[in-house]
Amino acid sequence: MGIEFLQVKKVEEWRAYHAIRRHVLFDLRGLDGYDDTHPDEHAPGHMPLLLRKDGVALGTVRLDLSEGTTGIVRLVAIMPEYQRQGLGRILMSEVERLSASRGLSRLEVYAAPDAVPFYEKLGWVMVDPGKISPLMAKEIESSDHGSGSGDGPRSPL
Ligand SMILES: CC(C)(COP(=O)(O)OP(=O)(O)OC[C@H]1O[C@@H](n2cnc3c(N)ncnc32)[C@H](O)[C@@H]1OP(=O)(O)O)[C@@H](O)C(=O)NCCC(=O)NCCS
Repeated sequence: MGIEFLQVKKVEEWRAYHAIRRHVLFDLRGLDGYDDTHPDEHAPGHMPLLLRKDGVALGTVRLDLSEGTTGIVRLVAIMPEYQRQGLGRILMSEVERLSASRGLSRLEVYAAPDAVPFYEKLGWVMVDPGKISPLMAKEIESSDHGSGSGDGPRSPL
């Protein structure tokens, strides 16, 4: 089955998406208050996305398309036991491919301080280190080819 990158739509996909985010970004950081009913998840132009390997959901990200040709990447998370195995890189390359296919030329993220070296490895640059979550950005090349082509993960988007 391999790696799949898909937009969250079905009930079981929403369940996996929220479970990963709650676990990685809240429980493991000692935070509570994760709201799986937040209206932002369903706002126009907001794309909740799931990375699965062999049918198992292991990573999430949300891409917000609502700001012209700049997309905002939110709440990137890979399950802890699968971190540092290249899945974050695959997830972000799929986000870039999807963004390019939607005509975006720039991505921004309010990075967790721990994750800054990860984004730097992937070619992101620091825009504003002064924030609690530093603002980073990456310029991307637009594409006319859409997503889901080539040898990458299956992307039914
Ligand atoms: C940050 C995160 C998404 C990275 O995913 P990952 O699957 O571990 O990353 P990868 O294995 O694809 O790593 C890609 C590259 O970044 C490097 N990297 C990843 N995390 C790193 C870190 N914390 N510090 C330094 N380098 C890091 C890897 O070594 C790798 O480099 P290489 O290709 O030269 O070997 C994941 O660790 C995670 O979910 N962390 C907790 C939640 C979080 O902080 N999310 C970001 C919110 S903005």
